[in-house]
Amino acid sequence: MGEQTTSDAGRRQGPLAVLGAGVMGETLLSGLLRSGRPVDSVVISERRPQRAAELTEKYGVQVLDNATAASGASTVVLVVKPQDMAAALADVREAIRPGTLVVSLAAGITTATLEAGLPQGTPVVRVMPNTPALVDEGMAAISPGEHCDEAHLAEAEELLRSCGRVVRIPEQYQDAVTAISGSGPAYIFYVVEAMIEAGVLLGLPRATSTELVVQTLYGAATMLRETGEHPTVLREQVSSPAGTTMAALRQLDDHKVRAAFLTAMEAARDRSRELAAGDG
Ligand SMILES: NC(=O)c1ccc[n+]([C@@H]2O[C@H](COP(=O)([O-])OP(=O)(O)OC[C@H]3O[C@@H](n4cnc5c(N)ncnc54)[C@H](OP(=O)(O)O)[C@@H]3O)[C@@H](O)[C@H]2O)c1
Repeated sequence: MGEQTTSDAGRRQGPLAVLGAGVMGETLLSGLLRSGRPVDSVVISERRPQRAAELTEKYGVQVLDNATAASGASTVVLVVKPQDMAAALADVREAIRPGTLVVSLAAGITTATLEAGLPQGTPVVRVMPNTPALVDEGMAAISPGEHCDEAHLAEAEELLRSCGRVVRIPEQYQDAVTAISGSGPAYIFYVVEAMIEAGVLLGLPRATSTELVVQTLYGAATMLRETGEHPTVLREQVSSPAGTTMAALRQLDDHKVRAAFLTAMEAARDRSRELAAGDG
């Protein structure tokens, strides 16, 4: 197969193809449609016909097989599980045309692996998304492959902005990103669970405790984003001398909660590296 054109002038015209419309694929599809992309400019492929029919019914989107979807597309977005990636690449390898951008949302699959499974010279972008994309508050980190230029990165960025924020990072940091924002929502939910339990321990009805904690989290996150203040400054504002907050924070320090967070995220980063190396 010949060297592909990666210049902007070589970009193909055609729909965006989302291959694998499970949880993340549907999230991206619905975000794109809500952000104004016409439904006839997107096609999807799915392994199970029942799932495909459900998505056509819900969004009116056309469903094709992997090879047909990839052969007509200007951009192919791979949203299959990491263990299904080799099969998906094999399906599209012969079909993909020069100039097609390939964007992968699969955790731990490197741009080198993607490039090795695609025609020589294919521009690829690797993405680590997170689940708040479901409510348009996702955090995605994107890294360019070998044959990716500024226009390709900008296109991937625009695509992902339909369901949240996007940062560009060198690929070597993708394991760290996985540990922080990829897995991050789970740590926050864990803290929320613990605080709700604490409310119940202190005698609050569970529903009340839940409302107090969720709104406090939402308010604190909004303050961080809107004031742009350092978290230490915001925390000090609620920590009066010898007060209640200081009594609680002292306990968190005594129980080494900050150190536990550092160790936990190191463990996630290391696990991400192991998985990427195929050491499941
Ligand atoms: N950082 C995060 O929080 C995060 C969150 C979600 C996803 N992700 C990444 O996003 C990717 C997708 O995850 P997901 O949660 O959306 O998984 P999912 O719900 O299982 O969706 C994957 C979909 O792709 C389909 N599929 C599998 N092989 C296929 C093939 N060869 N051709 C066409 N369709 C195929 C699957 O069909 P079947 O149902 O038949 O298997 C399924 O519907 C993963 O690689 C994951 O690493 C990251």
